[in-house]
Amino acid sequence: MTERRIAIIGGTGEQGFGIALRLAKAGEKIILGSRQEQKALEAAKRANAILGPNASVTGMENSKATAAADIIIMSVPFLAHAETIKSILESVTPEDIFIDAVVPLSTAVGGSAMTTLEVWEGSAAQQAARLLHNHTTKIASAFHNVVAEALQDLKHNIDCDVLVCGDSLATRKIAMELVNKLPGVRAIDCGRLENSRIVETVTAMLIGFNLRYQVNRAGLRITGLDAVKL
Ligand SMILES: NC(=O)c1ccc[n+]([C@@H]2O[C@H](COP(=O)([O-])OP(=O)(O)OC[C@H]3O[C@@H](n4cnc5c(N)ncnc54)[C@H](OP(=O)(O)O)[C@@H]3O)[C@@H](O)[C@H]2O)c1
Repeated sequence: MTERRIAIIGGTGEQGFGIALRLAKAGEKIILGSRQEQKALEAAKRANAILGPNASVTGMENSKATAAADIIIMSVPFLAHAETIKSILESVTPEDIFIDAVVPLSTAVGGSAMTTLEVWEGSAAQQAARLLHNHTTKIASAFHNVVAEALQDLKHNIDCDVLVCGDSLATRKIAMELVNKLPGVRAIDCGRLENSRIVETVTAMLIGFNLRYQVNRAGLRITGLDAVKL
């Protein structure tokens, strides 16, 4: 069990809850964040019941979860992205690592889940960077290319790569270390945060695969990297 604490903002949702289960199972201390403390507590109770007594999952209102954590994972619908970041802003410290997992799906404006919106800053992660600039510069993006169904299915390993972006190599390495804790998942270093624009749109493509091929966990593998120490 590590000493650091990881807050998952939107951790009551499908993706955040799945990330929470996998990271808690790997020994991380998790705080599920929600707009409603009671909802976070209920989700934490559910996670602990699934994981058993060795896991550490608690629940708090989003800004309290942020204040109590060293690493913040943002996992809300794009519609709520900017508003949610603004709501936790004062609880983010310069030392905090912020990992954005949000995909700007067109569903935010009533469109298709198979396409993404053009975000003025370039991507959801770059939008987060703009909003967080005076609070932390330790920003990465990750967890977009792994699906909630696979994260929550603890009986099976996951089978995909996850693409990780961020302007600081040190921050990317922390995000990649967390990604590599998901069994069967390999983190791929995708370089600067601006590349998150590409990574986020890949999720819409994967959703398209799921719909066209009638599956629920299409993923991505980058070939040619086997000989490289990642
Ligand atoms: N689901 C997947 O398989 C998957 C895969 C890859 C990427 N993603 C991305 O991960 C993010 C989360 O996805 P999800 O499927 O977990 O979403 P979700 O279940 O719809 O929502 C996650 C949480 O966000 C909060 N939320 C929802 N609507 C909100 C609003 N209008 N304002 C403020 N907070 C709101 C809710 O938490 P509280 O009510 O507790 O505050 C909710 O439990 C999205 O950006 C999605 O594109 C999802």
